[in-house]
Amino acid sequence: MATAPAAAVIPDGRRSKGSDSSSSPVTTAIFLFFFVVVVGVLVSARWITTTTHLSITNLDQWRSKPAILTTTHTTSIPAIPAAPPPPRATYSLSCSAPPLACDLDIPSNISQTLDLALSPNASSASASASTCAAIPDPPPLPATANASSICPTYFRSIHEDLHPWRAAGGITRAMVDRARATANFRLVVIRGRAYIERIAPAFQTRDLFTIWGILQLLRRYPGRVPDLDLMFDCVDWPVVHADQYQGENATVLPPLFRYCGDNETLDVVFPDWSFWGWPEINIKPWNALQKELNSGNRRVKWMYRQPYAYWKGNPDVAAIRQELVKCNVSSEHDWNARIYKQDWVKEIKAGYKQSNLASQCIHRYKIYIEGSAWSVSEKYILACDSMTLVVAPKYYDFYSRVLMPMQHYWPVRDDNKCSLIKYAVDWGNSHKQEAQI
Ligand SMILES: *[C@@H]1O[C@H](CO)[C@@H](O)[C@H](O)[C@H]1NC(C)=O
Ligand SMILES: *[C@@H]1O[C@H](CO)[C@@H](O)[C@H](O)[C@H]1NC(C)=O
Ligand SMILES: *[C@@H]1O[C@H](CO)[C@@H](O)[C@H](O)[C@H]1NC(C)=O
Ligand SMILES: *[C@@H]1O[C@H](CO)[C@@H](O)[C@H](O)[C@H]1NC(C)=O
Ligand SMILES: *[C@@H]1O[C@H](CO)[C@@H](O)[C@H](O)[C@H]1NC(C)=O
Ligand SMILES: *[C@@H]1O[C@H](CO)[C@@H](O)[C@H](O)[C@H]1NC(C)=O
Repeated sequence: MATAPAAAVIPDGRRSKGSDSSSSPVTTAIFLFFFVVVVGVLVSARWITTTTHLSITNLDQWRSKPAILTTTHTTSIPAIPAAPPPPRATYSLSCSAPPLACDLDIPSNISQTLDLALSPNASSASASASTCAAIPDPPPLPATANASSICPTYFRSIHEDLHPWRAAGGITRAMVDRARATANFRLVVIRGRAYIERIAPAFQTRDLFTIWGILQLLRRYPGRVPDLDLMFDCVDWPVVHADQYQGENATVLPPLFRYCGDNETLDVVFPDWSFWGWPEINIKPWNALQKELNSGNRRVKWMYRQPYAYWKGNPDVAAIRQELVKCNVSSEHDWNARIYKQDWVKEIKAGYKQSNLASQCIHRYKIYIEGSAWSVSEKYILACDSMTLVVAPKYYDFYSRVLMPMQHYWPVRDDNKCSLIKYAVDWGNSHKQEAQI
């Protein structure tokens, strides 16, 4: 069924410019940032061994962390064994970027703090806004592909997600400040440099890897990431409840970035940290992992895979998962489901031999079920080209809203899961041609 999420989305046409004309510069800037980030995730081609300029306002807090964020440090994460670089998908960023403010008289070798960069005096000298405007747009990206240069379908969601701020007339400082209440970090990009204010520690290294992704983005698209100021929350659950920002409260609607949202909330979704790596549980960045999954897929053809629906994970984080465990095969019944509990402590001791994702593409059917919120496992499950059974999701991430039932996955209702899984597996095993595409 579905292959990688990247392959699962169908390019669509460019959006008409007309509807954008009323948007404020800030929403436009955020949109552009987004545009570039999402492209950056999907075309991310290799480890970046040095990082882009970054200054951290609160160095002491970061000192205990691995120093991957300092200006000249080279990270020690191993390079992928040399292989001919694959042709890089290139999207033409058809939404032209506003001219960036010109670089001021700040020596590039000097680390700046955000306060300094934002101080009114930083721009006091000869450089005024009018001279900055004379700086030409960055050169267009080389035109390579035909189809891939068109915006992917899920870009539509970005427009939808940002619509409430368009309707409110733009994003104000008060809105951003309100988003601070639950944010883990604030990201400011000025003239291609990232500044991070760490507001609260994040779980594990989610913040670090999210920021690392942003640094790779700045590297990859020099001059194309607009100046911006945003708040990022690394916690699983969305918190910006739409019903609390009706009427006059709409003027303080916080634009808060996080990894997932649902139908009741207005959090702005952004690719999750695991696209750039999740070292605590040995998950490589998406780019490297995707290659392994592809070769895992080739190792056992669909027809020769075990004719059951497989799931492995931690059932203790959600009631719905505990219900799923009851669908496991037992002496009384066989719902065609093979459910396994992930024991992280044991896995860590065994060097993750049992949790190698690429060796998990050996069942014809794989189950995706949400945990405490959406689960990062979705992309790994979809990337095994087994038929994916998706159990009634409540949350969405940045790409999942374009996945189509019966095209990319088989939907399983929440009630009566066990027999619906059995039905799907029986159907697939008796319609092998249809089930494996
Ligand atoms: C930065 O570069 C300037 C000249 O480009 C040099 O005079 C200065 O000493 C450098 N500062 C540091 C901290 O390296
Ligand atoms: C900014 O410039 C003004 C006048 O030039 C000066 O009085 C003030 O101290 C400067 N502020 C900073 C933070 O340097
Ligand atoms: C564009 O598409 C045509 C037909 O699909 C193909 O022949 C051509 O090689 C493509 N060009 C590039 C640059 O991929
Ligand atoms: C506006 O926000 C306040 C405080 O959060 C809340 O008490 C009130 O119910 C909200 N009003 C609307 C119309 O949602
Ligand atoms: C599901 O059943 C299999 C086979 O009997 C067993 O190995 C596995 O531990 C069971 N899973 C759970 C979560 O109990
Ligand atoms: C969320 O809204 C979409 C679009 O209206 C709908 O298709 C979907 O079923 C809703 N999801 C949930 C969990 O209610």
